[in-house]
Amino acid sequence: MAEYDLVVRGGLVATGFGTTRCDIGIKAGRIAALAERITDAESVLDAGGLLVLPGGVDTHCHIEEPARGGYTSAQEGAAPPEVTVQEESFVSASTSAFAGGTTSVVCFVPQWKGEGILPRLADYEQRAARGMLDYSFHQIIADPFPGVLEEEVPQIVAKGIRSLKVFLTYEPLHLTDEQYLRVLVTARRHGCLVTVHCENYAAINWRTEALLKAGLTAPKYHAWSRPPVVEREATHRAIALAELVDQPIQVFHVSCAEAAEEIARAQYRGVKVWGETCPQYLALTAADMDRPGFAGAAFMCSPSPRSREEQAQIWEMIRRGTLDVVSSDHCGFSMNRPGAGKQASGHGASFRDIPNGIPGLAARLPILFSEGVSKGRIGLDEFVRLTASNPARLMGLPGKGVIAVGADADLALWDPAKKMVLTNALMQHAIDYTPYEGLEVTGWPVATLRRGEVVMRDGVVQAKPGTGRFLPRVPYAYIQPRGVVADGFDAAPPL
Ligand code: URP
Ligand code: ZN
Repeated sequence: MAEYDLVVRGGLVATGFGTTRCDIGIKAGRIAALAERITDAESVLDAGGLLVLPGGVDTHCHIEEPARGGYTSAQEGAAPPEVTVQEESFVSASTSAFAGGTTSVVCFVPQWKGEGILPRLADYEQRAARGMLDYSFHQIIADPFPGVLEEEVPQIVAKGIRSLKVFLTYEPLHLTDEQYLRVLVTARRHGCLVTVHCENYAAINWRTEALLKAGLTAPKYHAWSRPPVVEREATHRAIALAELVDQPIQVFHVSCAEAAEEIARAQYRGVKVWGETCPQYLALTAADMDRPGFAGAAFMCSPSPRSREEQAQIWEMIRRGTLDVVSSDHCGFSMNRPGAGKQASGHGASFRDIPNGIPGLAARLPILFSEGVSKGRIGLDEFVRLTASNPARLMGLPGKGVIAVGADADLALWDPAKKMVLTNALMQHAIDYTPYEGLEVTGWPVATLRRGEVVMRDGVVQAKPGTGRFLPRVPYAYIQPRGVVADGFDAAPPL
């Protein structure tokens, strides 16, 4: 019997801290050896002329997420609509992810106001188990009543869920400052990270009302309803309250320099705050929403895509390390499925009623590689860290996002010179469009391995549904509070 199940031969292996030309020996789904030449293997995968990258780790993905209301700026107190489930299933999302070189995701268990989290978790566990991706969960906290924070959170932590997601906007989801503080305290007591959507709810509502009153209802006014100051204010507040509690947070989908500067300032003070951005803030602009009729809805996400100048600033904040994770925020709604997706509230709907979110699971790595590495904005090491190692480290996923002996053999074999024009078919997702249609990229995944199994080769995905694994997360030092509290008085001591 051969020593290794598979050897990946002769690629340029990118570790995030330099490259080395070597073979990778894989045994029982793990990397068992890195050596100049490995011969004793059952089979060989030739990586000559290719880069070998860690499989992408996408820690912000909305997949098959049941929603009641959800990602719109719907009116306060509006009756929650029927329960809908996003079109992207765990099977289609896995196919799309593998097509784009991503092998692990962290996605979102919903909570609906007035209800506990455990029933939703039980349902979501079953959905996720049908896919092929390895996965973990963020738990959305939309209604932090005592039963949730005191009784249910400890139970989900025991199951290995160690991030609580909060929204500071969206009608059925947003938290008040007081509620947010309670979530921070709970996270601190149970060793969780808090991830935050930072936009000011009241400010968006106020501007939205004024825009609609003025008859400005088209998709492009989505951007006008939430200018950078709205994001900057909420980012500042989210960080300030987290600093007060001494609870580490990650600010999700940073779209503009003003918000990134808030993060940079806090990091300089030593506060444990991390910033994530997404390809949409590097490859789309607000002008994309200014297309005839309903077409601009295809680019509507929150925060809104900004200007070319903001894009340049976001690249700068990536280079400085202020923003250290690039996720997709994959949240797909089809454009042309009557009664569903972006059109769910009727074709002539105002921007307020159109669901926010765009698909991006498969496009994430090619766009960041092409716009970043191929165009010389970032190096290959940074690319690996932004898309795989940093998200895995921040979420407490050891064995993911790295190429090292003992790690899971999750790999993307990457042709750095291959030119492709992005089309919806290439995305292999369940959504009927990609916002990146027609974008030319240089650099493309030609094979994806998940735990040593070749799950994509030359664009053909072959993986058995139900083979994805849940990734339980244990306590990890990276997100430990600093022990720095105002006046030396800890208002949230361990229980
Ligand atoms: O527009 C967005 N980003 N939709 C997904 C939900 C969220 O805000 O993360
Ligand atoms: Zn968000």
